[in-house]
Amino acid sequence: MDSHPALCAAISDVYDALRDRIIASPQQRITFAEYMDLALYHPEHGYYSSNAVKIGFRGGDFFTSSNLGADFGELLAIQFFQMWEILGRSHPFSLVEMGAGQGILASHILKYLQLHHPDFFAALKYIIVEKSPTLRQEQQQRLQEFPVSWCNLEEIPSNSITGCFFSNELVDALPVHQFTLEAGELREIYVTIEADNKDQRLLSSPASPAPPASPTSLPSFIEVSGEPSTPQLAKYFELVGIDLSPNVYADGYRSEINLAALDWLSIVADRLQRGYVLTIDYGYPASRYYNPRRSQGTLQCYYHHRHHDNPYINIGQQDITAHVDFTALERWGEQCGLNQVGFTQQGLFLMMLGLGDRLADISHQTQPISQLLRRREALHQLIDPTGLGSFGVLVQSKGLEVQEASQPLKGLTVPE
Ligand SMILES: C[S@@+](CC[C@H](N)C(=O)[O-])C[C@H]1O[C@@H](n2cnc3c(N)ncnc32)[C@H](O)[C@@H]1O
Repeated sequence: MDSHPALCAAISDVYDALRDRIIASPQQRITFAEYMDLALYHPEHGYYSSNAVKIGFRGGDFFTSSNLGADFGELLAIQFFQMWEILGRSHPFSLVEMGAGQGILASHILKYLQLHHPDFFAALKYIIVEKSPTLRQEQQQRLQEFPVSWCNLEEIPSNSITGCFFSNELVDALPVHQFTLEAGELREIYVTIEADNKDQRLLSSPASPAPPASPTSLPSFIEVSGEPSTPQLAKYFELVGIDLSPNVYADGYRSEINLAALDWLSIVADRLQRGYVLTIDYGYPASRYYNPRRSQGTLQCYYHHRHHDNPYINIGQQDITAHVDFTALERWGEQCGLNQVGFTQQGLFLMMLGLGDRLADISHQTQPISQLLRRREALHQLIDPTGLGSFGVLVQSKGLEVQEASQPLKGLTVPE
């Protein structure tokens, strides 16, 4: 455990913000979603708002496909180019990247399009939606040479975008509610610092051990269960077709529900007039996500490339994520007017966009062997079926003419 004074002070700032929020709440408890939101996105002290966030291959807490070189962004750019052609080379064509991290993916996409498709580049409006002020600054630095604009999703007018909304590893970073089953009933997991409310039951089963003390020896946060904070939690299972019957699910089963993802998708669907929504992330269909054997959910924390499942340590210094329920995105999307275009895995998606040819070309290149080996390793990582290659790629559309909708997207083509 780190004990550097500056680090302890930073953890203590987030801790204070969380404790104040809990004390100010009517029942001195907050939902896990509120806890996660503050720990990650508190405007000054949250993981993504402070300088704590470290994304990168070396020395980071985690890395994404964009940290493995330009190939990922370039292959996505090839897909966007085809979307532009399908939409009749619309001018402008907006690419709205949501949750752009360090801006590395944007720089790869923009460089590639500028060089290889100047006509598309000229028609392009590249917009970034980024919640973290720190990362937004880093993006602005990195992308100075490109015509990029930044805004909040809510600021985009309704039905105004022709183009594609896309994200890589955004949805897993949205705050999730946690729930547990007690005597067949759905109960929500709240976070508090004391457990004196009669409606609350302290969760101290072996399934959810008491969190370890924080490094500054502040009192620990405690989990308690209570009535769901919103009827949306129960309705979610109707949406995704999961019956939480006690015959199937054991007492103490626990998992997450990403209501923020539904809110996010509603806004995206409303802002899109004509085009696509492309979502890349790790996750499962609901039947796998809520498999009764996955009895402790998918919540994971990332700290210095190590992962564990305790969100109550390293507060504000570690990433907290949960897998994405793609069934929820598909079904909620349909309710919001989005049509399902296709769902595939990142490995297949990138292969159909030409990753295999890139691998084959490496042997004809003249760079130093160490560089070529590194690139080959990176390409393999992007399609690794036990890693990034197993990520889900969901494409939805809105407002396409019949003839446009009938054109298969390159990345979704089924291999012969
Ligand atoms: C795990 S990082 C992914 C970064 C990047 N897409 C990549 O491929 O490296 C999640 C990103 O989403 C941003 N984010 C989280 N919630 C957001 C929201 N509601 N709106 C916009 N950005 C958000 C975070 O600040 C961060 O930039």
